[in-house]
Amino acid sequence: MTGRIVQPDDAGIAEAVALLRAGSVVAFPTETVYGLGADAFSHKAVGEIYRLKNRPSWNPLIVHVATVEVARDLAAGWPINADKLAAEFWPGPLTLVVRRATHLTGVGADNDTIALRIPAHDVALRLLAASELPLAAPSANRSEGISPTTAAHVLRSLPDVPLVLDGGPSSWGIESTVLDLTTDVPTLLRPGALALRALRDVTGAIALRGAETVDGAARPSPGMSKRHYAPRATLVLAKDVRDVEVDGPVGVLTYEGAALDGAEILSADPREYAADLYAALHRLDDAGVATILVQEPPQTEDWLAVRDRLGRAAAK
Ligand code: TXA
Ligand code: MG
Repeated sequence: MTGRIVQPDDAGIAEAVALLRAGSVVAFPTETVYGLGADAFSHKAVGEIYRLKNRPSWNPLIVHVATVEVARDLAAGWPINADKLAAEFWPGPLTLVVRRATHLTGVGADNDTIALRIPAHDVALRLLAASELPLAAPSANRSEGISPTTAAHVLRSLPDVPLVLDGGPSSWGIESTVLDLTTDVPTLLRPGALALRALRDVTGAIALRGAETVDGAARPSPGMSKRHYAPRATLVLAKDVRDVEVDGPVGVLTYEGAALDGAEILSADPREYAADLYAALHRLDDAGVATILVQEPPQTEDWLAVRDRLGRAAAK
């Protein structure tokens, strides 16, 4: 049995809510990527997310909430930086890691923290409001695969998801920025849609983590395993794609200013590039190429999130 793509009208939302209340899962659009949602308090439902994604149990889930009040209820403390950042950027592509309220279990992993965000997408917000549930939701793809930016991507990666609410293509197209507020200086756990510069304007200095993590070992951001966001094809990052020779069918991904005949050409603007990146990788994968050769983007901070994803997609 495969899942259905459903319009997010009142009937579609009602059907999604019924599934969530019954302890099942529903995929829904957010402004970053599509999420695979479940009642964050239901062990059964959260277990279904891990099973469908084949996600390792040590990797905890982001909990999506409708309001700052709900977020505060799920936290054991609400630091001043959480207040300021939520006021500035929620709803939006920023995930905050804070101490977890002791009554909450079920979002996977035995840690004493919780990752929270309010998504900036009308369908996600209507689903949160109608279900009256905090929704645990990782990206709606098999573990380590490319995150989905359309409803069709979800079912290609996870055909057994019963229902996908269709909200069109995700506007950011890259995951939220994850910031740890349990450290003295806020620590960037995952670069993402929201730029570091915007965060610094609110919090001051932000610590960056070391890039390397070891799979399965204790880690501050469990999800940042080395290989992630990977297409089926082998992804090769090149300083100059024109210098690289590869055997077999190859797809080339580059950007304006480094354009090349026959290549997929994305924008030279990092935000627009990010918005199209996963869809381009999905397309090249579907075309059946054995290798995706990617022109390395510039080494500036604006490209941090894109370079992070490309580096992980290329990791062995
Ligand atoms: O944009 C997004 O964040 C999307 C949409 C659906 O909201 N979600 C998403 O979820 O990307 P996921 O599960 O693919 O990535 C969540 C990241 C992982 O790196 C995970 O390890 C980290 O957040 N995370 C979750 N809970 C955490 C916690 N308590 N402490 C530290 N890191 C946490
Ligand atoms: Mg993911």
